[in-house]
Amino acid sequence: MATSPYSQQVGSLLEQLGPLFSFMTRSPWAQRQGDPTICDFVVGNPHDMPLPGFVDALQRWSVPRTKDWFAYTLGEQPARAAIAASLRERRQLPFDEEDVFITNGGFAAIAVALRAIIDPGDEVIFLSPPWFFYELLIQASGAVPVRVKVNLATFDLDLEAIAAAITPRTRAIIVNSPHNPTGVIYPPETLEHLARLLTAASARNSRALFILSDEAYSRIVFDGRPYFSPAAFYPNTFVLYTYGKTLLAPGQRLGYIALPPSMPGREQLRPAILLAQFMTGFAVANALLQHALPELETLSIDVGHLERKRDRLLEALRELGYDVHTPAGTFYLLPRSPWADDRAFVELLGRHDVFVLPGALVELPGYFRISLTANDDMIDRAIPGFAAALEQARTTRGVG
Ligand SMILES: Cc1ncc(COP(=O)(O)O)c(C=O)c1O
Repeated sequence: MATSPYSQQVGSLLEQLGPLFSFMTRSPWAQRQGDPTICDFVVGNPHDMPLPGFVDALQRWSVPRTKDWFAYTLGEQPARAAIAASLRERRQLPFDEEDVFITNGGFAAIAVALRAIIDPGDEVIFLSPPWFFYELLIQASGAVPVRVKVNLATFDLDLEAIAAAITPRTRAIIVNSPHNPTGVIYPPETLEHLARLLTAASARNSRALFILSDEAYSRIVFDGRPYFSPAAFYPNTFVLYTYGKTLLAPGQRLGYIALPPSMPGREQLRPAILLAQFMTGFAVANALLQHALPELETLSIDVGHLERKRDRLLEALRELGYDVHTPAGTFYLLPRSPWADDRAFVELLGRHDVFVLPGALVELPGYFRISLTANDDMIDRAIPGFAAALEQARTTRGVG
């Protein structure tokens, strides 16, 4: 039977995401969802009750004040104004509310930004280890994904490799800082160097190359560090944000695209972004979240508490003998797996009721990822499991 190009594409995408989907739906972790005895460090989901301020805001703003409270809306003015004001303060750049587009999450912000700039046959560079869905979203936009590894010794960008990957068809590069899963914040020197590379390539190609700056974790930074947005270094930067991390409510789907005031031709991009929101199935945040946004903008999970969980686990894991670096931001720790086969080690941890993400699923074999969104009780209960699994791994060194 002949297969349509669409079903061929679906087949290849499923093949690409197959290991992730099967982990999410069929692994021992998936089978033990809801079991209160497990210690769950797999994804950035909440394991404590939601922020009280978050619930209050949703309740308050769910009461209609006008007849069109729940009408179609492309971007409520108070919400866009609140985002622009927050960006002006946080980024020290004069963002304009006209350049803010409210989306249903960071996922949609990335998809819409890609749709707004891609011509058929364009290439988009993404950095490995990547967030799970970059490659899928690039393909869905009609572009060709081009994978470039970060420097695996430092986890900083490999600028030479990026320069070598740029061609006359390159349209954009997705940069995620603080980076999931390595926890690295790219320093100003790296971003300056990247900006120089992209400026030169844009001139060579007679066409702008964009940075799609995935800033999902820009408010989850530790040790009082500063965060540096690529928008401060390179004018053709789309700032892409989700509130899913800061509010630890990723199922509520709220995010945005913002164009910095320095971006040339941003007036022409505005209608392209709006069109892309329609093309992506009305990728606009729902009315209730837009009304609540000015209040939600001021809220955050307790980053200090997250930092204490980071420190507690780092200390415990290092004491046990795990090799793990200190993340500067994000929700994640990234220890080396004691076995080269991280999937086998993750299974072993699972037998001790401790569930983590195998590095192989984020193109980083030999590591595993721990999400710090687990609660304190899970951390307490997990430490003996981490100890026992390491001990077992050492005594069966041949495995994996
Ligand atoms: C780096 C990165 N970008 C984007 C997203 C998407 O965020 P959301 O699901 O809130 O849209 C995530 C979520 O895990 C992420 O880690």
